[in-house]
Amino acid sequence: MAFNARRFVDKQVEEIRKNVGKNTALCATSGGVDSMVCAFLAHRALGRNLIAVFIDDGLMRENEHKTVTTILRKHGIRTVLIRAADDFFKALRGKEDPEDMRKAFRHTFYKTLGKAVRKHRAKFMIQGTIAADVAETKGRIKSQHNVLTQIGISPRRYGLNVIEPLVTLYKPDVRKVGQALGLAKQIHQRMPFPGPGLATRVVGEVTPTKVRMLRKATVIVERELRNVKAFQQFAVLLDDRATGIRKGKRAFGNIIVIRSVQSKNAMTATPTRIPYQILERIQKKITRQIPEVTKVLYDISPKPPSTIEYI
Ligand code: XMP
Repeated sequence: MAFNARRFVDKQVEEIRKNVGKNTALCATSGGVDSMVCAFLAHRALGRNLIAVFIDDGLMRENEHKTVTTILRKHGIRTVLIRAADDFFKALRGKEDPEDMRKAFRHTFYKTLGKAVRKHRAKFMIQGTIAADVAETKGRIKSQHNVLTQIGISPRRYGLNVIEPLVTLYKPDVRKVGQALGLAKQIHQRMPFPGPGLATRVVGEVTPTKVRMLRKATVIVERELRNVKAFQQFAVLLDDRATGIRKGKRAFGNIIVIRSVQSKNAMTATPTRIPYQILERIQKKITRQIPEVTKVLYDISPKPPSTIEYI
């Protein structure tokens, strides 16, 4: 049976109201499509009893906290910004294994939310986990930051009662829900952005210096590819380095990868055939504007055997 987004919205609004009652609920929002749609859905159900929380974990894209909180506030959603970058960098310090990094991120994320829940005397945390997050985590591909119960961690450990209204849906239906909620196209067609943010795109230890470099490359890649249709496109910073030339001298520099994929539901993906001239322009901009970078690569790997992100 075809998915009926309006019926889904009505049913979830009713469910959320029934579960939350007259209490307050928080909704963590990373700016990606799932958590934005979730925030708007929860807001439709709870109005002023919903507080959207944007955690500035130091791993977001340039100006993202302003962009996201502005959109939410513009739509009348109570929004709080929590600055917690130091906690996240501390938790990630010395971690190089992808699953260790994900675990450290997840733990800090839920600890931060637990604190916010207590501060705002909220009883519930509503989050935009979707079916793909659960499938990948259960399939032991990668433990997504927002999956707890399914891997045997009780949200109560963090003092949280979690509600996941989108957990049965895959991305295309999430977008339809966004549309049914009357959201602007820029919101429901926004590129997915993973909860752990740029940490999924730094191979090796995540440090503020590396994130700053990657953030600059991300701005360039997103801007230069703005007219290329893709499911997701971004920059990645590798842990390796390569010899280059700077001011006529040898420089052992960093390597940035450009990633752009086509996908329907993130479970499989194929690389985008980006015109060569665009790739060359990106290479020039990155190596000019980020002197630490000496090489720029384009990733031609589909999923599987690759995944979309790098950790
Ligand atoms: P992968 O890298 O597994 O990614 O092919 C599939 C989709 O999921 C996103 N992703 C995440 N989203 N928390 C999220 O909210 C996570 O921990 C996470 N890991 C990957 C990724 O951006 C892609 O859209």
